[in-house]
Amino acid sequence: MTKSLRARRRATLLGSCMLLGLTTVQAHAAAGAPSLIPLPANYQADGGKDFVLKHAARVGGNDEASRRVAAQFVELLKQNGGPTLAVAENANKAQIRFRLDPSATNPAEAYTLKVSNTGIDVSASDDRGLFYGAVTAAQLLTDQTPGEVAAATITDAPRFVWRGLMLDSARHFQSMEEIKKLLDAMAQHKLNTFHWHLTDDQGWRMEIKRYPKLTETGSCRVPLGDAGRNEATGQPRTYCGFYTQEQIREIVAYAAQRHIQVIPEIDVPGHATAAIVAYPELGVTDQKLVIDNQWGVFPNLFNTEESTMQFLENVLLEVIDMFPAKYVHVGGDEAVKDQWIASPRVQAHMRQLGLKDEMEMQSHMIKRLEKFLEQHDRRLIGWDEILEGGLPPEATVMSWRGTEGGLKAASEGHDVIMSPVTHMYMDYLQTESPNEPPGRPTTIPLQKAYEFEPVPAELAADKRSHILGLQANMFVEHTRNNRHLEHNLFPRVAAVAETGWSPQDKRDFRGFTQRLPRQLQRYRAMDIAYAQTPFQVDLRDKGDAATGNVTVTLDNPLGYPVHYTLDGSAVSSRSPLYSQPLQLKVPVQVQAAAFFNDLPLAAASNFALTADSLRVREDTQLGLCPNGGKLLLRLEDDGPAEGEREVFNVNIFNPCWLWEDVNLAGISRIKVRAGRIPYNFQLAHDEPARKFAPAHSRYGEMEILANCEGTPLASVPLPAEPGADGFLELEAPITAPAARGDLCVRFTGDTRPNMWTLDWIRLEPAR
Ligand code: ACM
Repeated sequence: MTKSLRARRRATLLGSCMLLGLTTVQAHAAAGAPSLIPLPANYQADGGKDFVLKHAARVGGNDEASRRVAAQFVELLKQNGGPTLAVAENANKAQIRFRLDPSATNPAEAYTLKVSNTGIDVSASDDRGLFYGAVTAAQLLTDQTPGEVAAATITDAPRFVWRGLMLDSARHFQSMEEIKKLLDAMAQHKLNTFHWHLTDDQGWRMEIKRYPKLTETGSCRVPLGDAGRNEATGQPRTYCGFYTQEQIREIVAYAAQRHIQVIPEIDVPGHATAAIVAYPELGVTDQKLVIDNQWGVFPNLFNTEESTMQFLENVLLEVIDMFPAKYVHVGGDEAVKDQWIASPRVQAHMRQLGLKDEMEMQSHMIKRLEKFLEQHDRRLIGWDEILEGGLPPEATVMSWRGTEGGLKAASEGHDVIMSPVTHMYMDYLQTESPNEPPGRPTTIPLQKAYEFEPVPAELAADKRSHILGLQANMFVEHTRNNRHLEHNLFPRVAAVAETGWSPQDKRDFRGFTQRLPRQLQRYRAMDIAYAQTPFQVDLRDKGDAATGNVTVTLDNPLGYPVHYTLDGSAVSSRSPLYSQPLQLKVPVQVQAAAFFNDLPLAAASNFALTADSLRVREDTQLGLCPNGGKLLLRLEDDGPAEGEREVFNVNIFNPCWLWEDVNLAGISRIKVRAGRIPYNFQLAHDEPARKFAPAHSRYGEMEILANCEGTPLASVPLPAEPGADGFLELEAPITAPAARGDLCVRFTGDTRPNMWTLDWIRLEPAR
């Protein structure tokens, strides 16, 4: 019965008024090449006079298709924060001119753009190229001095044909408007593939007319805890959502207008719980299943019967009808085979087919689906697990568990898309800031995403063309709303887009960070809730409350210059520049911001350091205990159903927090504030890694350990429930060693289906 938790103390962020100041960044911006993202293949300054956009400027095209792109350009420019221009009846009277020239020998998606004092001319041999020229023109006109563009010639074409983004609409569900906004943003980044993950354990999100229960039953679950209960009635409150076939067609058409192909994913044979709940005959066991609000890897697989294969083929028939793209994704990932191993029917089926193990059984299924798709003029894609047990001859592999699967598949002559979890997973958080939303705190910072190289150095030269491109994957277990979704995606999608589009030898992270501030301005114009965290300043402090001495480290995750004040006054680019740790005395008020061209990149951070604050650490300031398994997650509370929720950093394998190198001299008591949240993870074969310290009383204890080992300094029994606000304050008298050392705080016992989490820990001196 976890209650929703109150908002808690964080570094306060000052001044949305400062952000507004960014709209005048143009006045300060450095001269030079424009801030284009992705960087074009060739940009040549022409040295002539600049083009200056007038209010009465017109946009035109030489034929109907070009005029369509002209109209799209008007929209793109407006989205980027530029003026609303009109399309001219007569192309000769236009200043921004689009021209389709099918006789030109440009590669696909390529374009040429020429800026002179008379206007901007964009030409291409296909409408995709012309559209990308329009995207570039809209960026040029919303650059350092909006409306003014330096004379230049751009010849541009993408490096890879597959520049993708995967969205999981199963774990959480996005509205049509949210998906269209995402497609707009993808187009603005010249991304061309939207991989739509529509089925999973937690929900089936696509109407299939032949099997109505897939959405009638399979699209709803009851969230755990507060969000799953109607407060007034106490009745279950469901979380539901699916897209009708009409809506899917609408999305496919909307994407197509922006030259984005939509690749549906139907996950087979695992991640199938929602389908099996709707049609139990598809499952392996007789166990009655429900659609659980749990994350992780579920045991439930489709069975291998002919009737199930026919079900899947019937589903694919409707899928093919809705999605015109060449590819259909059939998943194949994380299908733990325990149910197949335990099933006499599946085992008999395997013997009958002469298959030596369950991998070959999965491969048999995937090969059959591949053949079916081939018969319908489609190509199969699967996650890299489809390599196991033998890859179907024409399959394309999406390499997610690293790049090794992709390397192997490409070496064998298969097409590959690289989307490794190490670099391309957008549910991994991008900084260590306490302001990050829920997600996985193994961080994938912007730079790491940027520096991912999709073509492995080990791949033979004659096989490199099999790397079709790269893809960012956005799984949304921890991403409940669109604001968090956009935070996770942006600006990292810009990095992915540049890797997908720009020539390898032109990629340069520092150059990218110089172009990024203009892109942020475009995001603001598009109302994209991009992550502020990479542009903020993080503070780390290490001090001694007894002496009041504190060493303060300031950091901007992207390395933009940091300025600060220590007297509570507003920070500006004229304030001292941070260059090395500051030796300060508490109390002190630190205000800091990262700057680009004299303007702050995000709201200033404000930190009040006092003797009291030195004795307190929050979960995000603590590490993981040295012993036991480690799976750190940033988890949110279970309520309220809508709106902001409390978040906690917690190691779900071992709920234990580490405060390194702390001085316990003179400390007589330790206070801990704990919260409680649902424990909702299916861990499959990782289950043994989950180790809870043994409980010594009915509900377990909070234990404090010096140096994280031996007999606890203190052990406080836990109650059955937290307080009415969902929190619990615990106090433990200690006889501490008068020395510095590491301190661990853990909760003992197996408290599932809930878990205690640490909110903060405070050292109390002897009175
Ligand atoms: C995946 O992350 N299971 C593809």
